[in-house]
Amino acid sequence: MSGRRPRLVRCCAMNPSSPPTSVHTSVLPAEVMSFLDVKPGMRVVDGTLGGGGHTRLLADAVGPAGLVIAIDRDPAAIERGARELAGRPVRFAQANYCDLPEVLDALAIDTVDRVLLDVGLSSDQLADDARGFSFDSDGPLDLRFDPTEGEPAWRIVNRMRPESLADIIHEFGEERFSRRIARRIAAVREQTPIRSARDLARVVCSAVPRQTPPPRIHPATRTFQALRIAVNQELKSLRIALERIPTRLAPGGRLVVISFHSLEDRLVKEAFRNRQVWENLTRSPVEAGIEEVQRNPRSRSAKLRAAQATAT
Ligand SMILES: C[S@@+](CC[C@H](N)C(=O)[O-])C[C@H]1O[C@@H](n2cnc3c(N)ncnc32)[C@H](O)[C@@H]1O
Repeated sequence: MSGRRPRLVRCCAMNPSSPPTSVHTSVLPAEVMSFLDVKPGMRVVDGTLGGGGHTRLLADAVGPAGLVIAIDRDPAAIERGARELAGRPVRFAQANYCDLPEVLDALAIDTVDRVLLDVGLSSDQLADDARGFSFDSDGPLDLRFDPTEGEPAWRIVNRMRPESLADIIHEFGEERFSRRIARRIAAVREQTPIRSARDLARVVCSAVPRQTPPPRIHPATRTFQALRIAVNQELKSLRIALERIPTRLAPGGRLVVISFHSLEDRLVKEAFRNRQVWENLTRSPVEAGIEEVQRNPRSRSAKLRAAQATAT
């Protein structure tokens, strides 16, 4: 439980200050729909609205007699979804998906038939210069999904002891140069505080040894990922959600989780091992095929797992 009250939002018309059209491409859309097997009239929760691609497919599948409850921590995603999915059977809630029971209580709904979690970051967040998710952004290094909750990354980077920073970068980023990076951050911030994403990316690049051939990913990828996971307490949210979702899933209901990080995938795998709660539908995780990876490189690291709630 996050302790925050969900904010329910209805579909709304265009407003001049609303966020631009989504640039996010949903991953594994066919596999999501196949494992969820949504029928007309069902009640479905999309716990990670993002750009709304999966929500749209779910709304079309439940039809006018059903309902999709679309949740996101990010107020911009909620605002965009409420505008772009107007006219569809969707209710929107700005909330943490670990607060799914509180969202359902606020809508006077007891149980739902399907839940989807497609965790992590959307391309819309990455493209928003003001959020600091992208290495070349001059905006503040914020990295929060909900910019009104918790501490922005720039503050953590400028105040945390180097040992603790190194632990975060090592654990959540699986970065082998974590200690060097943390030491360099500590040295640089003594001269000038690190403010923007570009500042941090530069510091990281100067801390890691040059590699030949150059690495496939930007040298700061793992550090940014680690800080984002820490700032948003992403693993904690997922752990709590996996415990709480079964309490509001109808018997025979299904949960699909797409994760992008080995620690997240491990949590899902462990949860689905509990046979009193789940019948596991995916012995090993489902991954994107070559064609999807070429079309949507983000899908490269996606892992999908699905389970059905045991009928107790
Ligand atoms: C990968 S995107 C989802 C993309 C979406 N499935 C689509 O088709 O466009 C992940 C989204 O989940 C949101 N998110 C991440 N953690 C969350 C949490 N604990 N609770 C609610 N939303 C979360 C992020 O803000 C982001 O918008």
